[in-house]
Amino acid sequence: MPLTIAIDGPVGAGKSTISDVVAQRLGILHLDTGAMYRAVGLCALEKGIDLQDETAVSRMCENGEAQVSVEYENGAQRTLLNGRDVTGLIRTQEVGQAASAVSRYPTVRRILVRRQQEMAKSQSMLLDGRDIGTVVLTDATVKIYLTASAEARARRRMLQLQEKGDTTPFETILAEVNARDYQDMHRETDPLRQAEDAILVDSSDLSFDETVDAILALVEERK
Ligand code: DC
Repeated sequence: MPLTIAIDGPVGAGKSTISDVVAQRLGILHLDTGAMYRAVGLCALEKGIDLQDETAVSRMCENGEAQVSVEYENGAQRTLLNGRDVTGLIRTQEVGQAASAVSRYPTVRRILVRRQQEMAKSQSMLLDGRDIGTVVLTDATVKIYLTASAEARARRRMLQLQEKGDTTPFETILAEVNARDYQDMHRETDPLRQAEDAILVDSSDLSFDETVDAILALVEERK
């Protein structure tokens, strides 16, 4: 039986980087599902499609004009859009917002969820996202809901931005974190929520290494 690990949680909880290290320590692949929604968002932006136009965005996906695939290079995920490597391009704030917008649409979700399920069917994998424990891998070996207070997440984001020379004030970042939480938790289709059988890991007062160790201990317990 392949080992499947579902990690869900709100924006800025460190899911991606924590998931990378946990998967590496377990010797399994990590699928960052947010990258797939980002690739669809990028595709819509590049085609000049109105992100609020559900019909147009859905048609783009159904027609195969936004084919998202994933490859691994030495264990690291590369995200492809219509065969083009967009791994770096999808990491902007603009694409993040576009991803949040297109991820509201059931057609987009249906297509990407199916792809994610196919990938996790035949091999041990860790998937991180918003709906992994509740929709994508409902029978995952271990489900984690990784969160931290909005203030702790905003503080971490502010420090990351400061390293890049960006001096956006804390209050602005906190407002963005709260707005994204609201949008992800209140959308109609598959909103972010903790699965009933998911274990809550609150990293507000944990270091990066402590969070990784806490998750690895939970995986060991349930394996
Ligand atoms: O984790 P992220 O910031 O890269 O995700 C970008 C957006 O994609 C996020 O606002 C919500 C959406 N998303 C989703 O709806 N379901 C997932 N499994 C992963 C991401």
